[in-house]
Amino acid sequence: MRILVTGGAGFIGSEYVRQRLTSDPTARITVLDKLTYSGVVANLAPVAEHPGYIFFRGDICEPDVVDQAMAGQDVVVHFAAESHVDRSIEGAGPFVRTNVLGTQVLLDAALRHGVGRFIHVSTDEVYGSIAEGSWTEGSAVAPNSPYSASKAGSDLLALAYHRTHGLDVVVTRCSNNYGPYQFPEKVIPLFITNLIDGKTVPLYGDGRNIRDWVHVSDHCRGIDLVLHGGTAGEVYHIGGGTELSNHKLTGLLLDAVGAGWDRVQYVADRKGHDLRYSIDDSKIREQLGYAPQVDFEEGLAATVDWYRAHRSWWEPLKKRARLR
Ligand SMILES: NC(=O)c1ccc[n+]([C@@H]2O[C@H](COP(=O)([O-])OP(=O)(O)OC[C@H]3O[C@@H](n4cnc5c(N)ncnc54)[C@H](O)[C@@H]3O)[C@@H](O)[C@H]2O)c1
Repeated sequence: MRILVTGGAGFIGSEYVRQRLTSDPTARITVLDKLTYSGVVANLAPVAEHPGYIFFRGDICEPDVVDQAMAGQDVVVHFAAESHVDRSIEGAGPFVRTNVLGTQVLLDAALRHGVGRFIHVSTDEVYGSIAEGSWTEGSAVAPNSPYSASKAGSDLLALAYHRTHGLDVVVTRCSNNYGPYQFPEKVIPLFITNLIDGKTVPLYGDGRNIRDWVHVSDHCRGIDLVLHGGTAGEVYHIGGGTELSNHKLTGLLLDAVGAGWDRVQYVADRKGHDLRYSIDDSKIREQLGYAPQVDFEEGLAATVDWYRAHRSWWEPLKKRARLR
């Protein structure tokens, strides 16, 4: 099976590519990635010598580029996106362009090339915020940030290509990921790397916001289950089963590096900050046998260790992105 992976040089896409190629010597994966600020080709260095690996630098918004990359592919796993909520508040343009237009370009190319399956990697953020209970795959989308609105647009567009054109599309909506190779603007790696360097960490508002955390390797195992066993036209949640307030998460990270609460700087809340995300992922558990394998505390400790051991990976990225 030839797989086209978009955004394969990013945090989650590169985990997917490494996971597939290291477990299968016969796998064939072409990565299509623009290498934006968050795309790091070195994330794929561990599998660069795999005979089935091809890297193709290009923009998913450009039909000619996408046509070249799509030719001969059996399936598409679509990760490429602008992914950081704070950046979408600063400016929504790149989010609408890449997340909505780029997805449409890919879907049209998938149709033209007769691709057998298109996995659209979406997010639980499309639902907005939920005070109690959990969303099911049938819940209505009601996104609040420009990021989540652009993801909802692309997610619904992908489903529309199934209903309208019969393209074999399956959508996954996952909760917050953590693990190695995450760009150090996101909360967990930002906090870890600041704390390692003796700096403070910026905690939004009162830290009450709640997220479900899943290890990136579990997310990617879930995507592969959906690729091989999911039903066309359907949505599958992928969760981690660990809901934490940002306050609690901060406490765990402080403990992990032996720092105290004096290192926490409370900052003005993010505009439109969703209070709580919570997905019910019993569908993928019951129908496809999904179960997260990484215990949160063990996964977090391993993630802290990874950032300690990989300063040469994150320090230049933080400098270039002017992250403090
Ligand atoms: N990070 C999370 O917690 C999370 C949770 C659920 C879903 N998701 C979704 O998973 C996907 C991957 O997220 P991530 O955290 O790995 O993001 P990331 O920012 O680390 O990686 C995005 C990748 O896409 C590439 N890219 C961006 N614009 C492109 C374009 N126009 N053409 C080609 N490549 C382009 C970047 O170079 C980068 O390699 C996204 O679709 C995101 O919405 C993320």
